[in-house]
Amino acid sequence: MSMHTEFPAGFLWGTATAAHQVEGNNINSDFWVMEHAPGTIFQEPSGDACDHYRLYCDDIQTLKDLGFNAYRFSIEWARVEPADGSISKAALRHYADVLATCHEYGITPIVTLHHCTSPRWRMKLGGWESAETPKRFEAYTQAVMRELGSLIPYVCTINEANIAVLLRRMNMNAGAQSDGDSQAPIGVNADSAGGSFAAWMQACAQELNTPLDKLKTFLFTSTDAAQTLIRDAHARARDAIKSANPATQVGITLALNDVQTLPGGEALAATIKDEQFFSYLPACADDDFIGVQNYTRQRIGAEGVLPNEAGVETTQMGYEYYPEALEGVIRMVAAAGKPMIVTENGLSTEDDSRRVAFIQRALAGVRRCLDDRLDVRGYVYWSALDNFEWVFGYRPKFGLIDVDRATQQRRVKESGRYLGNIARRNALGE
Ligand code: BGC
Repeated sequence: MSMHTEFPAGFLWGTATAAHQVEGNNINSDFWVMEHAPGTIFQEPSGDACDHYRLYCDDIQTLKDLGFNAYRFSIEWARVEPADGSISKAALRHYADVLATCHEYGITPIVTLHHCTSPRWRMKLGGWESAETPKRFEAYTQAVMRELGSLIPYVCTINEANIAVLLRRMNMNAGAQSDGDSQAPIGVNADSAGGSFAAWMQACAQELNTPLDKLKTFLFTSTDAAQTLIRDAHARARDAIKSANPATQVGITLALNDVQTLPGGEALAATIKDEQFFSYLPACADDDFIGVQNYTRQRIGAEGVLPNEAGVETTQMGYEYYPEALEGVIRMVAAAGKPMIVTENGLSTEDDSRRVAFIQRALAGVRRCLDDRLDVRGYVYWSALDNFEWVFGYRPKFGLIDVDRATQQRRVKESGRYLGNIARRNALGE
């Protein structure tokens, strides 16, 4: 299928990473503590990850050579502010170098300021249920923008602001999942986890020298109080970005399953859409775009969230292989009347030919949305590299590029060439 000439000029064609998942040795972050606490639920620690902190230049060059014109990556708060109130000029210089490399290669950087991880010192002080956190996030944002603002055309303030709400819902419906391997994207299922989980949490609290009830990492932000703080943090960051550089385009990103309603499921489907999407719109009213992140669908029937149908293809994460979900989600998000950027879409599989097919079908859906005049500005595949998939460690393979972690050698997969070629031909108007 030929689709390379059919996308608008200026369309962003990118891939994404997140600092903790690729950089390596993010030792001042809460996740580093969680990975190493006794009884950890993580399959393995992140360790050197993909050593992207050192190899970013080669990686960005590879993306450019493949044909991409955008790269979404995150700046790590725990590196920029490793201790409470102390800003690391060296870390900011590092990210200035990453941004300069993108510009040198003609790659538009899309910067995320918070992607799951937070500084460990912030956890000591009440994490995402502390009223101070939005102000501290704002101060970190100001520090980043003061030094780097002129190099940053796009910011996603907070990645998947709704992830804890989505995880909570998946957990509430865990009984309906037929597939025992079905897990939420980031994999931490706080409420349902058993005794060993509690022991591990206790160990994390001890390690951080904080009472257990104050240990509120970003993944445990499903309470109303925490959600209010996230929205506040986003709004403060957006205002800080706009006052530093009004040209920078700002948005939040949301994890969105394609919610499909079967007879009898109407009320629950409406509730889910509301709690995971529509309730965020007031906080996004002054944003420039919405970051759409989608991996699969969720079918809702009279009995609740339905399990995968027997025999459907699933990904390494256990959820259904269903590339058309992206189109469904874009059509829902379009109701907000804002430009959209697909800031994540992808799948984990060892069979790269299934990834090529997935991308082709997902893009066909984006194309249909564009035909209907929906305002989609870009498609960013998750992920550039096979990387650290949170509690699942390095087993799930989301990347367009394979990484041999013993040698840090990269090997571009067919899917990387496939999507890169679409990007290149589209940019050339061929
Ligand atoms: C997150 C990524 C994660 C991906 C795949 C998204 O929820 O933003 O950090 O690796 O899904 O599970």
